[in-house]
Amino acid sequence: MNIVTMKVLLERAEKNGIAIPAINVSNMETIKAVCESTEKYKTGIIMQISPIQFEMQKINYYEFVEMVKLLCKNFDIDIAIHLDHATEVKQCCDAIDAGFTSVMYDGSAQSYETNIENSRRVVLYAKDKGVTVEAELGKVGGTEGEASDNNDDVLTDPNLAKEFVNRTGVDCLAVAIGNAHGFYKKEPKLDFDRLDKIYEETKIPLVLHGGTGITDEALKIAIKKGIKKINFFTEIDREFVLGFIKAHEENPSIYMMKAQEDARQMMMKKIDEKMKVCVFN
Ligand code: 13P
Repeated sequence: MNIVTMKVLLERAEKNGIAIPAINVSNMETIKAVCESTEKYKTGIIMQISPIQFEMQKINYYEFVEMVKLLCKNFDIDIAIHLDHATEVKQCCDAIDAGFTSVMYDGSAQSYETNIENSRRVVLYAKDKGVTVEAELGKVGGTEGEASDNNDDVLTDPNLAKEFVNRTGVDCLAVAIGNAHGFYKKEPKLDFDRLDKIYEETKIPLVLHGGTGITDEALKIAIKKGIKKINFFTEIDREFVLGFIKAHEENPSIYMMKAQEDARQMMMKKIDEKMKVCVFN
């Protein structure tokens, strides 16, 4: 295992015309599931976790970094350890201090100027330490794990994107082009013209949040148009939950270790499907 910055993986994606999946993980089983199912593709992987997950699971940044290093050390894989959706500058700084190699400052709920100011502060802190920074312009709506009609999103304005990138110095930009977190109530229609314009203006790797429920075909078009990182959480996480439930339904006296392993296998199949979409063009 090599712990690398996300920038290294994004440059690799750029060179090969692919995207690197960024997968939210929650525990030992899911961390190992990600390594086991992605190692063979030799592209590297982005393992991510958000402050809300830390809060819910009562673990901290240091524990997470150590856990990834320990559990993945025998895999032949490049891993970027990424903080997803930090809404405070301090969360990004704390994660960087703990050894994260990439952070996302999510200022989408702030005014444009505050978003720029805070993203810039994160970049200043991260640059010295060689850590990659992602920021968001516009607002990707929805909530992971839930169904949304994505009516709380604000699409990214291509005319502001260049200024945002220049003034903040971020390495990559999360865009809102009709994507939303969680399951979609109806099939999302991505605004590819908008994506073209954003890429033309910024020429930096773009990030698509809300990978769950976007068709393979749409993901492939998005990759051709500048998306280099695709976030998947709900769909992959749900496979684990369903696998666990199914294992118990089939055998009510099942041990946790066996139910967990069945769940992990289901999750790995889903990761493999997403990996293929991202890395085979
Ligand atoms: P989904 O839960 O919709 O896959 O989105 C994940 C995500 O964007 C995490 O930041």
